[in-house]
Formats: sequence, C-alpha cells, structure tokens
Amino acid sequence: MIDFYLNGQRQSGVEVPPDTSVLELLRTRLGKTGTKEGCASGDCGACTVTIGEPNADGELEYRTANACITPAHQLQGCHLVTVEGLARGDALHPAQAAMVECHASQCGFCTPGIVMSLFTLHENQRRTPAPLTQARLEQALGGNLCRCTGYRPIRDAALTMGDYPDTHPSWADDPGLAVDVGKQRQAAPAELAGQGHFSAPRDLAALRRLKAERPQARLVAGATDLWLETTQQLKALDDLIDVRRVAELNEIDATDDGWWIGAAVPLSRLEPLLEEAYPAFAHLLHRFASQQIRNRATLGGNIANASPIGDSPPVLLALEARLLLDGPDGERELPLGDFFLDYKKTALADNEFIRGIFLPRPAADQNLKVWKLSKRREDDISAVLAAFAWRLEEGVMRDVRLAFGGMAAIPRRVPRTEAALEGQAPSLEAFAAAKAALDQELSPMSDVRGSAEYRKLAAANLLERLRLMIDTTHNDTKVTLDAYAH
Ligand SMILES: Cc1cc2nc3c(=O)[nH]c(=O)nc-3n(C[C@H](O)[C@H](O)[C@H](O)COP(=O)(O)OP(=O)(O)OC[C@H]3O[C@@H](n4cnc5c(N)ncnc54)[C@H](O)[C@@H]3O)c2cc1C
Ligand code: FES
Ligand code: FES
Repeated sequence: MIDFYLNGQRQSGVEVPPDTSVLELLRTRLGKTGTKEGCASGDCGACTVTIGEPNADGELEYRTANACITPAHQLQGCHLVTVEGLARGDALHPAQAAMVECHASQCGFCTPGIVMSLFTLHENQRRTPAPLTQARLEQALGGNLCRCTGYRPIRDAALTMGDYPDTHPSWADDPGLAVDVGKQRQAAPAELAGQGHFSAPRDLAALRRLKAERPQARLVAGATDLWLETTQQLKALDDLIDVRRVAELNEIDATDDGWWIGAAVPLSRLEPLLEEAYPAFAHLLHRFASQQIRNRATLGGNIANASPIGDSPPVLLALEARLLLDGPDGERELPLGDFFLDYKKTALADNEFIRGIFLPRPAADQNLKVWKLSKRREDDISAVLAAFAWRLEEGVMRDVRLAFGGMAAIPRRVPRTEAALEGQAPSLEAFAAAKAALDQELSPMSDVRGSAEYRKLAAANLLERLRLMIDTTHNDTKVTLDAYAH
C-alpha cells in the first residue's frame, strides 16, 4: 500500500502489485489518461511526469521522470504532478499557454510529456532564475521526442513561457503541502501484501537484514535498467528491495583522498561534484541518457548492471575507483577492475549489494579525456566509450590509464596499450605502438550500434585524437578536434 499526493490531492492506502509502474497506476487505476505511453522503455518521453520530493530543508524539489519505468511504490511520500494538475481552472499554465500560442503540437501524442518537461523547467526557473541557454534547453527537452510538429515551435514555447503571467496550479498555494508530503515520507516503509514484496528499507541495517532474509529479491534503485525487464521482456518483478531510501547509500563523503559516493545517489545529484573535480566526467553525464533518466539513475545501478556499454564504468576504471560491497556477512572493498568478470557477470555475491563507490581526487597535473561515440548526441547508448587518464612529466606520459566501453564483453582497461605509452613522449612512434597493442588486445562484437571493424577503427582513431590533443605542436588540428569533441 502506498500513500502519496497526486496534483495536490492526498492518495491513501493505494494497493498496487510490486511491478506496477507509475504510468500503469495513473492510466488504469486512477483514471488519469493525460500521461501517454509511447515506447514503454524510457526513450520517448511521452510519459514524462514530475515528482516532488522533500529536500533537506523540507521543501519540495520537482524533477521529471519517465512514468513508464518508474515503480509506483517509489511514490510513497512524494508529490506526483501530471498534465491534469497544471491549469488553474480555465487558465492554462504558462508551459501550456506557450505551447498553444507557438503551435507546438500537431498529433499531440508527445505533448503532455513535453508540457511536463517545460513545467519542470518553469518551476525550477521560478525558484532559481538563470538564463535559458541552449545547453539548458537541450537538457530540459533532450528526453522528449516529437515526430510530427518539429522542434522549433517547441523551442519557441520554452523560450517564451517566461513572458506569460505566472498562473500556477492551485496546489502551489497550499503552504502545508510540503509538510504533509514530508510526514507521509516518514510513515512506515511500504511492505506490500499480495503477490510478492516491495520493501523500502531506510537504513543499512534494515537493508542487510532484508538481503539475509530474501537473497533472491531483486534490488531496485532508479529502475531505469531493471524496469525494462518487465516492460520489454514481460518478466515478473514481484520481489523487490528498493535501495533508494537507504540513508547510508545516499551520502557523499569527502575524504583527504577522494569521495565516497553512496550507490543510490542519482546521477543528477553528482553533477556539481564532477563539474568541480572531473569536468570531463561531468560533460559525459550531460550525454548520459536524458534528464528524466539522470534524475533517477544511480551510479550503483550503472555499475551493478554490468553492461559492456555502460557509460560510467570505463571512466571510473581510468580513475582507479574502488567499490564498497556490503551484506549480512560484512563489508569488503574491491578495485572496480576486479568487479566485472564476464558479460553481465560480477564479483557481487547473491546476498551482497554495492554500498558505495570511491572516486579518488585528481592529482594536480592529472588529465582526463572522455569520448562517447553514439548515433545521436542526446539520449543514446554508446557504441564506443573511451576514457583516458594520464600525466605529463618532463615531456613523457606517466600514470597512463586507458579504459574502453563497447569493445569487449565487459568495460575494461587495456594494460598492453597503456604500457606502450607509459614513460614515452607522445610521439607518432609511441602511439603507433599503442594502436598496434590495442588491435591485439580488444575484440569487440558487432551489433546494431556498430560492427566490430567500426569499433576497432573508432577506438584506434580516439587514440590518435588523444595524440593530436597532447601534441601542442599541431595547433592547426585544434579546430577539428573541438568541432567533434563531445
Ligand atoms: C532511455 C534510457 C537511456 C539510457 N541511457 C544510458 C546511457 O546513455 N548510458 C548508460 O550508461 N546507461 C544508460 N541507460 C541505462 C541506465 O539508465 C543506467 O545503467 C543507470 O545508471 C542504472 O541505474 P538505476 O539506478 O536506474 O539501476 P536499476 O535499474 O535500479 O538497477 C540496475 C541493476 O543494478 C542492480 N542494483 C541497483 N542498485 C544496486 C546496488 N546498490 N547494489 C547492487 N545491485 C544494485 C539492480 O538489481 C539491477 O540489476 C539508459 C536507460 C534508459 C532507459
Ligand atoms: S513511454 Fe516512452 S519514455 Fe515512457
Ligand atoms: S505532436 Fe505528434 S509527436 Fe509531437
């Protein structure tokens, strides 16, 4: 049973099976059909809703989510806002009014999702005004596809909605809403009766206990990978332990050597730290899925999912990150490089979970470059991802760590290629030797994202790009490099 608020209205004791999505709950149980289903896989954004959760100051912070892959149980103690909850009587919300005025809707299928992304942008803009740059617009709308109107009118709506009178929904006038949602959140964790379980422990001790009692239960964090098992493969997900509310898994602790990042910290919360410590990693996050996904996806989920094309593992490998694994039998630390064993196989025992990820502080002269190759710039999975870390000491490369995604059954470093560059000047000869080693060291597969030949060539070309970047005697190549740098 879950308790939450929907468009300012309290919903109490809503009974839903564990594998019900927010979209299913809305459309089939609550009669709210404004939210549409397009792909049911988090790709199109037609189902975008806004979820308000209390922050440390007790205020509700609103973020977009894909309702099709968000577990309904995770609404416990949240304020869910849908397209039905925006207008104030007959007066449209500025996001809606601007969409009408700019003729930004044709068949209308994508429109509720786009309106919710614009509403969330408007809401955040109202709280923290900032210029609506191209980058911010891309961020807000990159997870919403429109197949008939075209994006110019939608962009116009985004740029002009701030000029409309601020007609906010009537629930926004309720000063007690945040307090009420906060109280609901503190209520007893949801332990579902009916078919299977959905448990939402609040602390490490409870998570360990549940893992001991139900080692077979699937862990769920942001659900942006897991939920596809039910929407795409029609598998039952009827025994789930939700790690999102476990306090210890939500902490970011700074130490002298680096940062322990809780496994359940959503990617969007990581951005400020990465902007500061590793701008190249932060830049990659802007190309990781969409804002809707980044608001929910966690670093722990990205690692545990162990996909050969997951974006963060190669970067974390190049930075020599470590994992803290935990469970009823105790905790242990493991270099990330020892975690991935084979395709989707990891060193995690059945009753273990990832508690945290240690990100070392960069050395003063450390360099990091991360390049993601994918067919689309927004909301696409990598064909190849390269993460290169190195230092230059008296003209030679030191601490060279090169890692790739999409080039083997697991994300991995390439020790022989690294050895070819370690202690060498970034010369044509050294890089030729590195490319030869790389050719021997990796055997990628062919799939819809790229053939094995393409991947090999692309990986070697990324090494060449690295050489051109380091070799400052070739300034004339800089323009080309910047033009393609994503
Ligand atoms: C539209 C779309 C676009 C995407 N784009 C990208 C992309 O560009 N790059 C990319 O890398 N990925 C992408 N993904 C995949 C996904 O978003 C990421 O892998 C994400 O980081 C998974 O995190 P999560 O919290 O949602 O994990 P979940 O889906 O909740 O869990 C994933 C797996 O990890 C396990 N798990 C979760 N937390 C823990 C834990 N603490 N300990 C042990 N096991 C745990 C779960 O049991 C499950 O097996 C995309 C997904 C979608 C739907
Ligand atoms: S229906 Fe396409 S993202 Fe949810
Ligand atoms: S209006 Fe038809 S898909 Fe966007």
